[in-house]
Amino acid sequence: MTNIEKISAELEQFKIETAENLENFRLRFLSKKSELQSLLSEIKNVPAEQRKEFGQCVNLLKQKAQKYFEEQKERLENATALQGGDMDITRPATDIELGSRHPISIVMDEVCSIFEKIGYTTVSGPDIEDDWHVFSALNFAEEHPARDMQDTFFIAQHPDVVLRTHTSSLQVRTMERQKPPIRVICPGRVFRNESITSRAHCIFHQLEGLYIDENVSFADLKQVLLYFAKQMFGENTRIRLRPSYFPFTEPSAEMDVSCNICGGKGCALCKHTGWVEILGCGMVDPNVLENCGIDSKKYTGFAFGLGIERMTMLKYKTNDIRLYFENDVRFIQQFTAASR
Ligand code: PHE
Repeated sequence: MTNIEKISAELEQFKIETAENLENFRLRFLSKKSELQSLLSEIKNVPAEQRKEFGQCVNLLKQKAQKYFEEQKERLENATALQGGDMDITRPATDIELGSRHPISIVMDEVCSIFEKIGYTTVSGPDIEDDWHVFSALNFAEEHPARDMQDTFFIAQHPDVVLRTHTSSLQVRTMERQKPPIRVICPGRVFRNESITSRAHCIFHQLEGLYIDENVSFADLKQVLLYFAKQMFGENTRIRLRPSYFPFTEPSAEMDVSCNICGGKGCALCKHTGWVEILGCGMVDPNVLENCGIDSKKYTGFAFGLGIERMTMLKYKTNDIRLYFENDVRFIQQFTAASR
């Protein structure tokens, strides 16, 4: 009992100011080798009639020591935290890694903003479409090869449900909803059942433009496309239109721009022709206008559609479309710097 009192008195006087004091306290009163601990193991040797009292006193003392230790430990920890602890607040911060924009998004936004500047509004719509919006309304004949399983992803049980093969479906949706004048661009993801190579993918992105009003002519189309080509590829860019065919435009054309890599002199990218094809276009076929409830006697219009991957490959001079879908960060990261 004398020992208990002695230890108790000592404990009450023990000042804890530092982490070192705290550790000494632990060694002195709480560790396995401490005097208090040996008193605890003495309990069983105490004569029976005193054992209860002795045991209670030792245990109380142990609890007191434990409580005091916890309190002081917390107090010290709080104090160190307030002072900044072990932290060196003068150390330079580590860089916060920012994600980078995907090159396809960068180019998509760029193309959109070129058209928005001249009054086009952006519209969007579903990737999963029906036959009417992708084919029938656009004047595709029943047996047109584009409807073929070879080109289009169908849902086996629902042949009317297709993944859109072009964003021209949004032409139809817009005309059904809105009366002329209509001036919209329709960016979006499209799907074709094609084998994947360095030049083609089964998923890619398009941007379609549509302009419907009274007296819209082919000359307007040409002027808008020339404006676009210069904004996109530089003031010296030239364009040329070659006759082509699309079921929904008449007449139809394909547009080439002078090669922005060799400046028209001829290189591998333009296959030594000096020209690269970038889009399809034409005057909206009167059948399409009528299908969508627009009076083809009063209104005319043009449409054009371009592939964003192709545009991106030209802009960044890359030669494999697959790179844009693999999302290897070593590739993707490089475009942040270019866009800044
Ligand atoms: N929809 C056509 C395609 O996917 C492109 C196009 C759009 C052509 C509008 C003419 C007019 O190839």
